[in-house]
Amino acid sequence: RYEITQRETSAEILPGVRTPLWTYEGGFPGPTIESRRGRPVTVTHRNLLPVPTVVHLHGGHTPAASDGYPTDLVLPEHWHDTAHGGHVMHDPRAVRSRVTRDYTFPLDQRAALLWYHDHRMDFTAPAIWRGLAGLHIVRDDVEDALGLPSGARELPLMIADRAFAADGALTYPALDPALRGRPGVHGPYLAGVLGDVILVNGAPWPVHEVDAARYRLRILNASNARHYELEAVADDGRVLELVQVGADLGLLTAPVAHRSLPIAPAERYDVVVDFSQVPVGGRVRLVNRLGSGRTREVMAFRVARKAADASRVPRTLARDVPEWRRSEAVRVRDLSFRAGRMHGRHGWVIGGLPFDPVRTDVTARLGEVEVWRLIADVHHPVHLHLVGFRVLSRGGGPPLPHDAGLKDTVSLRPGESAEIITRFEGYRGRYLFHCHNAEHEDMGMMANLEIV
Ligand code: C2O
Ligand code: CU
Ligand code: CU
Repeated sequence: RYEITQRETSAEILPGVRTPLWTYEGGFPGPTIESRRGRPVTVTHRNLLPVPTVVHLHGGHTPAASDGYPTDLVLPEHWHDTAHGGHVMHDPRAVRSRVTRDYTFPLDQRAALLWYHDHRMDFTAPAIWRGLAGLHIVRDDVEDALGLPSGARELPLMIADRAFAADGALTYPALDPALRGRPGVHGPYLAGVLGDVILVNGAPWPVHEVDAARYRLRILNASNARHYELEAVADDGRVLELVQVGADLGLLTAPVAHRSLPIAPAERYDVVVDFSQVPVGGRVRLVNRLGSGRTREVMAFRVARKAADASRVPRTLARDVPEWRRSEAVRVRDLSFRAGRMHGRHGWVIGGLPFDPVRTDVTARLGEVEVWRLIADVHHPVHLHLVGFRVLSRGGGPPLPHDAGLKDTVSLRPGESAEIITRFEGYRGRYLFHCHNAEHEDMGMMANLEIV
Protein backbone atom coordinates (compact mmCIF):
# COMPACT_ATOMS: atom_id res chain seq x y z
CA ARG A 1 0.00 0.00 0.00
CA TYR A 2 1.40 3.35 -1.02
CA GLU A 3 0.20 6.91 -0.85
CA ILE A 4 1.36 9.37 -3.43
CA THR A 5 0.57 13.06 -3.32
CA GLN A 6 0.80 14.87 -6.60
CA ARG A 7 2.05 18.36 -5.96
CA GLU A 8 3.92 21.34 -7.31
CA THR A 9 7.46 21.89 -6.15
CA SER A 10 10.76 23.07 -7.53
CA ALA A 11 14.16 21.44 -7.75
CA GLU A 12 17.68 22.47 -8.69
CA ILE A 13 18.14 20.44 -11.86
CA LEU A 14 20.52 22.83 -13.59
CA PRO A 15 23.14 24.42 -11.32
CA GLY A 16 22.09 27.70 -9.71
CA VAL A 17 18.45 27.82 -10.86
CA ARG A 18 15.21 26.30 -9.57
CA THR A 19 12.87 24.44 -11.91
CA PRO A 20 9.15 24.39 -11.03
CA LEU A 21 7.81 20.85 -11.44
CA TRP A 22 4.67 18.81 -11.14
CA THR A 23 5.63 15.80 -9.10
CA TYR A 24 4.59 12.54 -7.55
CA GLU A 25 5.56 13.00 -3.93
CA GLY A 26 7.91 15.93 -4.50
CA GLY A 27 10.48 14.40 -6.84
CA PHE A 28 11.20 13.88 -10.51
CA PRO A 29 11.21 11.00 -11.15
CA GLY A 30 8.54 10.06 -8.62
CA PRO A 31 9.24 7.40 -5.98
CA THR A 32 10.35 4.04 -7.36
CA ILE A 33 7.93 1.34 -6.25
CA GLU A 34 9.26 -2.21 -5.93
CA SER A 35 6.81 -5.10 -5.90
CA ARG A 36 6.81 -8.88 -6.03
CA ARG A 37 4.97 -10.78 -8.71
CA GLY A 38 1.46 -11.76 -7.63
CA ARG A 39 1.40 -9.47 -4.58
CA PRO A 40 -1.23 -6.82 -5.21
CA VAL A 41 -0.35 -3.22 -4.55
CA THR A 42 -2.74 -0.35 -3.95
CA VAL A 43 -1.52 3.16 -4.62
CA THR A 44 -3.67 6.01 -3.35
CA HIS A 45 -3.11 9.16 -5.36
CA ARG A 46 -4.10 12.54 -4.00
CA ASN A 47 -4.11 15.49 -6.37
CA LEU A 48 -2.80 18.83 -5.09
CA LEU A 49 -1.86 19.99 -8.59
CA PRO A 50 -3.88 22.77 -10.25
CA VAL A 51 -5.23 20.43 -12.94
CA PRO A 52 -6.99 17.06 -13.10
CA THR A 53 -4.70 14.08 -13.54
CA VAL A 54 -4.86 10.40 -14.48
CA VAL A 55 -2.38 7.74 -13.42
CA HIS A 56 -1.46 4.84 -15.70
CA LEU A 57 0.89 1.99 -14.84
CA HIS A 58 2.61 1.40 -18.16
CA GLY A 59 3.19 -2.32 -18.69
CA GLY A 60 0.83 -3.25 -15.88
CA HIS A 61 -1.54 -6.18 -16.35
CA THR A 62 -4.27 -4.22 -14.65
CA PRO A 63 -8.10 -4.32 -14.43
CA ALA A 64 -9.63 -1.51 -16.48
CA ALA A 65 -10.86 0.39 -13.40
CA SER A 66 -7.25 1.00 -12.31
CA ASP A 67 -5.66 1.34 -15.75
CA GLY A 68 -5.91 5.12 -15.90
CA TYR A 69 -8.36 5.72 -18.72
CA PRO A 70 -7.78 9.28 -20.05
CA THR A 71 -11.12 10.63 -18.79
CA ASP A 72 -11.00 8.75 -15.46
CA LEU A 73 -9.81 11.81 -13.59
CA VAL A 74 -8.38 12.49 -10.18
CA LEU A 75 -9.76 15.99 -9.67
CA PRO A 76 -7.60 18.65 -8.06
CA GLU A 77 -8.41 19.52 -4.47
CA HIS A 78 -7.96 23.16 -5.36
CA TRP A 79 -8.85 23.91 -8.89
CA HIS A 80 -7.21 27.16 -10.00
CA ASP A 81 -7.18 26.72 -13.71
CA THR A 82 -10.35 25.59 -15.40
CA ALA A 83 -8.94 26.56 -18.78
CA HIS A 84 -6.86 23.38 -18.71
CA GLY A 85 -9.97 21.22 -18.28
CA GLY A 86 -10.93 21.52 -21.90
CA HIS A 87 -13.96 19.73 -23.27
CA VAL A 88 -13.23 16.59 -21.25
CA MET A 89 -14.74 18.08 -18.12
CA HIS A 90 -18.01 18.81 -19.84
CA ASP A 91 -18.62 15.40 -21.32
CA PRO A 92 -20.87 13.68 -18.75
CA ARG A 93 -20.66 10.37 -20.63
CA ALA A 94 -16.94 10.14 -20.09
CA VAL A 95 -16.15 11.56 -16.69
CA ARG A 96 -15.91 9.77 -13.37
CA SER A 97 -13.94 11.67 -10.85
CA ARG A 98 -12.71 12.14 -7.31
CA VAL A 99 -9.97 14.12 -5.63
CA THR A 100 -8.19 11.02 -4.37
CA ARG A 101 -8.21 7.68 -5.98
CA ASP A 102 -7.05 4.14 -5.21
CA TYR A 103 -5.33 2.35 -8.05
CA THR A 104 -5.10 -1.40 -7.43
CA PHE A 105 -2.54 -3.45 -9.31
CA PRO A 106 -2.69 -7.26 -9.02
CA LEU A 107 0.84 -7.48 -10.57
CA ASP A 108 0.18 -11.05 -11.55
CA GLN A 109 2.77 -10.76 -14.29
CA ARG A 110 6.42 -11.41 -15.14
CA ALA A 111 9.17 -9.46 -13.41
CA ALA A 112 9.78 -6.28 -15.41
CA LEU A 113 10.55 -2.59 -15.26
CA LEU A 114 7.22 -0.77 -15.48
CA TRP A 115 6.62 2.94 -15.16
CA TYR A 116 3.74 5.11 -14.10
CA HIS A 117 2.88 8.39 -15.70
CA ASP A 118 0.07 10.83 -16.33
CA HIS A 119 -2.46 9.90 -19.02
CA ARG A 120 -5.06 12.65 -19.11
CA MET A 121 -6.84 13.12 -22.39
CA ASP A 122 -5.23 15.72 -24.67
CA PHE A 123 -2.83 16.70 -21.87
CA THR A 124 -0.53 13.75 -21.27
CA ALA A 125 2.54 15.17 -22.99
CA PRO A 126 2.81 18.45 -21.03
CA ALA A 127 2.02 16.65 -17.75
CA ILE A 128 4.81 14.11 -18.22
CA TRP A 129 7.10 16.89 -19.40
CA ARG A 130 6.53 18.76 -16.12
CA GLY A 131 7.52 15.73 -14.11
CA LEU A 132 4.67 13.22 -13.74
CA ALA A 133 6.59 9.98 -14.26
CA GLY A 134 8.11 7.32 -12.01
CA LEU A 135 9.36 3.73 -12.03
CA HIS A 136 7.67 0.60 -10.77
CA ILE A 137 9.85 -2.53 -10.65
CA VAL A 138 8.22 -5.94 -10.43
CA ARG A 139 10.47 -8.76 -9.21
CA ASP A 140 10.05 -12.51 -9.02
CA ASP A 141 11.91 -15.64 -7.84
CA VAL A 142 12.83 -16.79 -11.36
CA GLU A 143 14.75 -13.60 -11.98
CA ASP A 144 16.31 -13.50 -8.51
CA ALA A 145 17.75 -16.99 -9.03
CA LEU A 146 19.63 -16.08 -12.21
CA GLY A 147 22.57 -14.27 -10.61
CA LEU A 148 22.36 -11.14 -12.76
CA PRO A 149 24.15 -8.08 -11.34
CA SER A 150 22.08 -6.77 -8.43
CA GLY A 151 22.07 -4.37 -5.48
CA ALA A 152 24.23 -1.33 -6.25
CA ARG A 153 25.08 -2.96 -9.58
CA GLU A 154 21.53 -2.80 -10.86
CA LEU A 155 20.81 0.70 -12.14
CA PRO A 156 17.40 1.81 -13.36
CA LEU A 157 18.01 4.65 -15.83
CA MET A 158 15.08 6.86 -16.76
CA ILE A 159 16.24 8.89 -19.74
CA ALA A 160 14.26 12.00 -20.69
CA ASP A 161 15.13 15.16 -22.59
CA ARG A 162 13.85 18.56 -21.45
CA ALA A 163 14.23 22.20 -22.48
CA PHE A 164 14.84 24.97 -19.95
CA ALA A 165 14.45 28.75 -19.96
CA ALA A 166 17.26 30.91 -18.53
CA ASP A 167 15.45 31.14 -15.16
CA GLY A 168 15.30 27.34 -14.88
CA ALA A 169 11.65 26.91 -15.88
CA LEU A 170 10.84 24.04 -18.21
CA THR A 171 9.77 25.30 -21.59
CA TYR A 172 7.04 23.46 -23.41
CA PRO A 173 6.62 25.28 -26.68
CA ALA A 174 3.26 23.81 -27.63
CA LEU A 175 1.77 25.46 -24.52
CA ASP A 176 3.12 28.91 -25.35
CA PRO A 177 0.16 31.20 -24.46
CA ALA A 178 0.83 33.20 -27.61
CA LEU A 179 0.05 30.09 -29.66
CA ARG A 180 -2.59 28.30 -27.61
CA GLY A 181 -5.99 27.76 -29.07
CA ARG A 182 -5.27 28.86 -32.62
CA PRO A 183 -5.88 26.51 -35.50
CA GLY A 184 -2.66 24.79 -36.47
CA VAL A 185 -1.11 25.72 -33.13
CA HIS A 186 0.62 22.39 -32.99
CA GLY A 187 2.03 22.81 -36.48
CA PRO A 188 5.68 23.33 -35.56
CA TYR A 189 5.51 20.55 -32.97
CA LEU A 190 3.72 17.92 -34.99
CA ALA A 191 6.78 15.71 -34.71
CA GLY A 192 6.75 16.09 -30.92
CA VAL A 193 8.60 18.25 -28.43
CA LEU A 194 12.34 17.79 -27.99
CA GLY A 195 14.64 19.18 -25.32
CA ASP A 196 18.33 19.98 -25.58
CA VAL A 197 19.18 18.76 -22.06
CA ILE A 198 19.36 15.03 -21.44
CA LEU A 199 18.28 13.98 -17.94
CA VAL A 200 18.93 10.57 -16.44
CA ASN A 201 16.86 9.94 -13.30
CA GLY A 202 16.22 13.68 -13.28
CA ALA A 203 19.88 14.81 -13.43
CA PRO A 204 21.55 16.33 -16.49
CA TRP A 205 24.29 14.17 -18.02
CA PRO A 206 25.18 12.44 -14.74
CA VAL A 207 28.50 10.70 -14.13
CA HIS A 208 28.09 7.53 -12.11
CA GLU A 209 30.99 5.82 -10.32
CA VAL A 210 31.11 2.09 -10.92
CA ASP A 211 33.22 -0.91 -9.93
CA ALA A 212 35.19 -2.71 -12.62
CA ALA A 213 32.41 -5.29 -12.83
CA ARG A 214 29.21 -6.21 -14.66
CA TYR A 215 26.24 -3.88 -14.22
CA ARG A 216 22.62 -4.37 -15.09
CA LEU A 217 21.24 -1.20 -16.69
CA ARG A 218 17.46 -1.06 -16.79
CA ILE A 219 16.90 1.61 -19.37
CA LEU A 220 13.61 3.43 -19.92
CA ASN A 221 13.16 6.09 -22.56
CA ALA A 222 10.71 8.40 -20.77
CA SER A 223 11.18 11.18 -23.32
CA ASN A 224 8.08 12.62 -24.96
CA ALA A 225 9.35 12.28 -28.51
CA ARG A 226 13.12 11.74 -28.65
CA HIS A 227 14.52 8.50 -30.03
CA TYR A 228 17.93 7.25 -28.97
CA GLU A 229 20.38 4.76 -30.33
CA LEU A 230 22.52 4.02 -27.33
CA GLU A 231 26.13 3.00 -27.47
CA ALA A 232 28.63 2.56 -24.60
CA VAL A 233 31.97 4.01 -25.66
CA ALA A 234 35.19 3.77 -23.61
CA ASP A 235 37.87 6.51 -23.55
CA ASP A 236 39.97 4.67 -26.09
CA GLY A 237 37.03 4.56 -28.51
CA ARG A 238 36.26 0.92 -27.85
CA VAL A 239 32.54 0.14 -27.95
CA LEU A 240 31.37 -2.08 -25.08
CA GLU A 241 28.78 -4.70 -25.84
CA LEU A 242 25.27 -4.13 -24.53
CA VAL A 243 24.11 -7.62 -23.62
CA GLN A 244 20.34 -7.47 -23.62
CA VAL A 245 18.70 -9.72 -21.05
CA GLY A 246 15.21 -8.27 -21.03
CA ALA A 247 12.63 -6.33 -23.04
CA ASP A 248 9.68 -4.12 -22.03
CA LEU A 249 7.92 -6.92 -20.16
CA GLY A 250 10.67 -9.03 -18.71
CA LEU A 251 13.50 -11.42 -19.41
CA LEU A 252 14.36 -12.77 -22.83
CA THR A 253 14.71 -16.48 -23.48
CA ALA A 254 18.42 -15.95 -24.13
CA PRO A 255 20.71 -12.92 -24.08
CA VAL A 256 21.22 -10.87 -27.27
CA ALA A 257 24.44 -8.86 -27.69
CA HIS A 258 24.16 -5.45 -29.34
CA ARG A 259 26.75 -2.92 -30.39
CA SER A 260 24.10 -0.21 -30.16
CA LEU A 261 20.43 -0.23 -29.18
CA PRO A 262 17.63 1.89 -30.62
CA ILE A 263 15.14 2.90 -27.95
CA ALA A 264 11.90 4.70 -28.73
CA PRO A 265 9.71 6.59 -26.24
CA ALA A 266 8.29 4.23 -23.56
CA GLU A 267 10.48 1.25 -24.51
CA ARG A 268 12.59 -0.48 -21.87
CA TYR A 269 15.78 -2.42 -22.43
CA ASP A 270 17.44 -4.47 -19.73
CA VAL A 271 21.15 -4.75 -20.57
CA VAL A 272 24.31 -5.96 -18.88
CA VAL A 273 27.54 -4.01 -19.48
CA ASP A 274 30.90 -5.27 -18.29
CA PHE A 275 32.97 -2.37 -16.97
CA SER A 276 35.86 -4.70 -16.08
CA GLN A 277 36.96 -4.29 -19.69
CA VAL A 278 37.94 -0.70 -18.89
CA PRO A 279 41.04 0.21 -16.82
CA VAL A 280 40.43 1.68 -13.36
CA GLY A 281 40.20 5.48 -13.71
CA GLY A 282 38.74 5.14 -17.19
CA ARG A 283 35.37 6.36 -18.36
CA VAL A 284 32.58 4.93 -20.44
CA ARG A 285 30.18 7.34 -22.12
CA LEU A 286 26.64 6.34 -22.91
CA VAL A 287 26.02 8.21 -26.14
CA ASN A 288 23.02 8.67 -28.41
CA ARG A 289 24.15 8.05 -31.96
CA LEU A 290 21.07 9.91 -33.22
CA GLY A 291 21.92 13.09 -31.29
CA SER A 292 24.38 15.80 -32.13
CA GLY A 293 26.38 18.19 -29.97
CA ARG A 294 25.21 17.93 -26.39
CA THR A 295 22.19 15.79 -27.17
CA ARG A 296 24.68 13.14 -28.26
CA GLU A 297 25.76 12.69 -24.63
CA VAL A 298 23.47 10.83 -22.25
CA MET A 299 25.59 9.99 -19.21
CA ALA A 300 28.98 8.55 -18.25
CA PHE A 301 30.35 5.88 -15.96
CA ARG A 302 33.69 6.33 -14.20
CA VAL A 303 35.35 3.06 -13.32
CA ALA A 304 36.50 3.81 -9.79
CA ARG A 305 37.92 0.56 -8.43
CA LYS A 306 38.69 -3.09 -8.97
CA ALA A 307 36.16 -5.39 -7.34
CA ALA A 308 35.08 -8.99 -7.11
CA ASP A 309 32.18 -9.96 -9.34
CA ALA A 310 30.08 -13.05 -8.72
CA SER A 311 27.34 -12.05 -11.19
CA ARG A 312 26.67 -13.94 -14.37
CA VAL A 313 24.56 -13.83 -17.51
CA PRO A 314 23.15 -17.35 -17.98
CA ARG A 315 22.70 -18.62 -21.53
CA THR A 316 19.10 -19.41 -20.76
CA LEU A 317 17.28 -16.63 -18.98
CA ALA A 318 13.57 -17.33 -19.05
CA ARG A 319 11.43 -20.25 -20.16
CA ASP A 320 8.11 -18.45 -20.00
CA VAL A 321 8.30 -15.99 -22.91
CA PRO A 322 5.01 -16.60 -24.74
CA GLU A 323 5.37 -18.10 -28.22
CA TRP A 324 2.06 -17.48 -29.95
CA ARG A 325 1.92 -18.95 -33.43
CA ARG A 326 0.39 -17.27 -36.45
CA SER A 327 -1.86 -20.29 -36.92
CA GLU A 328 -3.45 -19.63 -33.50
CA ALA A 329 -4.65 -16.18 -34.54
CA VAL A 330 -8.41 -15.88 -35.04
CA ARG A 331 -8.05 -12.64 -36.97
CA VAL A 332 -5.64 -10.22 -38.56
CA ARG A 333 -6.28 -6.50 -38.20
CA ASP A 334 -4.78 -3.72 -40.26
CA LEU A 335 -4.16 -0.47 -38.39
CA SER A 336 -2.55 2.57 -39.92
CA PHE A 337 -0.79 5.30 -37.96
CA ARG A 338 -0.70 8.49 -40.01
CA ALA A 339 -1.05 12.26 -40.08
CA GLY A 340 -4.67 13.40 -40.12
CA ARG A 341 -7.12 15.95 -38.76
CA MET A 342 -8.17 16.38 -35.14
CA HIS A 343 -10.72 19.06 -34.11
CA GLY A 344 -10.05 20.77 -37.45
CA ARG A 345 -6.31 20.99 -36.87
CA HIS A 346 -3.34 18.99 -37.98
CA GLY A 347 -3.03 15.92 -35.85
CA TRP A 348 -2.39 12.21 -35.93
CA VAL A 349 -4.90 9.42 -36.48
CA ILE A 350 -5.25 5.64 -36.23
CA GLY A 351 -7.19 4.00 -39.04
CA GLY A 352 -8.16 7.49 -40.23
CA LEU A 353 -9.79 8.59 -36.95
CA PRO A 354 -8.60 10.74 -34.06
CA PHE A 355 -9.22 9.56 -30.48
CA ASP A 356 -12.79 9.67 -29.25
CA PRO A 357 -13.44 8.36 -25.74
CA VAL A 358 -16.94 7.20 -26.62
CA ARG A 359 -16.14 5.25 -29.79
CA THR A 360 -14.93 1.63 -29.63
CA ASP A 361 -12.26 1.10 -32.25
CA VAL A 362 -11.27 -2.50 -31.70
CA THR A 363 -13.27 -5.21 -29.95
CA ALA A 364 -11.25 -8.26 -28.97
CA ARG A 365 -12.42 -11.40 -27.21
CA LEU A 366 -10.85 -12.54 -24.00
CA GLY A 367 -8.59 -15.52 -24.66
CA GLU A 368 -8.28 -15.00 -28.41
CA VAL A 369 -5.03 -14.59 -30.29
CA GLU A 370 -4.81 -11.84 -32.89
CA VAL A 371 -2.24 -10.56 -35.32
CA TRP A 372 -2.11 -6.81 -35.84
CA ARG A 373 -0.50 -5.40 -38.96
CA LEU A 374 0.64 -1.90 -38.11
CA ILE A 375 1.74 0.60 -40.72
CA ALA A 376 3.27 4.02 -40.12
CA ASP A 377 3.94 7.15 -42.17
CA VAL A 378 6.65 8.55 -39.88
CA HIS A 379 8.23 7.22 -36.69
CA HIS A 380 5.50 5.94 -34.32
CA PRO A 381 6.18 3.88 -31.17
CA VAL A 382 2.92 1.93 -30.85
CA HIS A 383 1.88 0.85 -27.35
CA LEU A 384 -0.89 -1.51 -26.18
CA HIS A 385 -2.35 -1.44 -22.71
CA LEU A 386 -3.06 -4.63 -20.69
CA VAL A 387 -1.22 -7.18 -22.82
CA GLY A 388 2.31 -7.82 -23.98
CA PHE A 389 2.98 -8.93 -27.54
CA ARG A 390 5.68 -10.42 -29.72
CA VAL A 391 6.96 -8.81 -32.89
CA LEU A 392 6.33 -11.28 -35.74
CA SER A 393 7.74 -9.34 -38.65
CA ARG A 394 9.11 -5.96 -39.58
CA GLY A 395 9.12 -4.36 -43.02
CA GLY A 396 7.95 -7.65 -44.52
CA GLY A 397 11.01 -9.46 -43.15
CA PRO A 398 11.96 -11.04 -39.87
CA PRO A 399 12.01 -8.93 -36.69
CA LEU A 400 15.23 -7.16 -35.76
CA PRO A 401 17.48 -8.41 -32.94
CA HIS A 402 16.17 -5.75 -30.53
CA ASP A 403 12.55 -6.84 -31.19
CA ALA A 404 13.13 -9.98 -29.10
CA GLY A 405 11.07 -10.83 -26.06
CA LEU A 406 7.76 -9.70 -24.66
CA LYS A 407 7.06 -6.09 -25.65
CA ASP A 408 4.38 -3.53 -24.93
CA THR A 409 5.69 -0.91 -27.36
CA VAL A 410 6.98 -1.45 -30.89
CA SER A 411 8.86 1.29 -32.69
CA LEU A 412 7.65 1.63 -36.26
CA ARG A 413 10.14 3.45 -38.44
CA PRO A 414 9.09 5.86 -41.20
CA GLY A 415 7.12 4.05 -43.88
CA GLU A 416 7.51 0.76 -42.07
CA SER A 417 5.01 -1.95 -41.31
CA ALA A 418 5.26 -4.53 -38.55
CA GLU A 419 3.16 -7.43 -37.40
CA ILE A 420 2.59 -8.14 -33.75
CA ILE A 421 0.85 -11.09 -32.12
CA THR A 422 -0.82 -11.36 -28.74
CA ARG A 423 -3.45 -13.15 -26.73
CA PHE A 424 -5.97 -10.87 -25.02
CA GLU A 425 -6.06 -12.29 -21.55
CA GLY A 426 -6.71 -11.32 -17.97
CA TYR A 427 -9.47 -8.76 -17.84
CA ARG A 428 -12.44 -7.54 -19.80
CA GLY A 429 -13.07 -3.86 -20.20
CA ARG A 430 -12.04 -0.71 -21.96
CA TYR A 431 -8.33 -0.26 -22.67
CA LEU A 432 -6.25 1.74 -25.10
CA PHE A 433 -3.62 1.52 -27.72
CA HIS A 434 -1.76 4.54 -28.95
CA CYS A 435 1.39 6.11 -30.24
CA HIS A 436 3.76 6.81 -27.35
CA ASN A 437 5.20 9.87 -28.92
CA ALA A 438 3.37 11.82 -26.20
CA GLU A 439 2.55 14.75 -28.47
CA HIS A 440 1.16 12.41 -31.13
CA GLU A 441 -0.98 10.79 -28.45
CA ASP A 442 -2.37 14.17 -27.39
CA MET A 443 -2.95 15.10 -31.03
CA GLY A 444 -5.34 12.21 -31.55
CA MET A 445 -3.20 9.11 -32.10
CA MET A 446 -4.97 6.90 -29.59
CA ALA A 447 -7.81 4.38 -29.87
CA ASN A 448 -10.08 2.29 -27.68
CA LEU A 449 -9.56 -1.42 -27.28
CA GLU A 450 -12.59 -3.09 -25.76
CA ILE A 451 -12.02 -6.58 -24.42
CA VAL A 452 -15.22 -8.59 -24.14
CU1 C2O B 1 2.85 4.71 -21.21
CU2 C2O B 1 -0.95 4.54 -22.52
O1 C2O B 1 0.92 4.63 -21.86
CU1 CU C 1 0.55 1.79 -21.04
CU1 CU D 1 3.44 8.80 -33.38
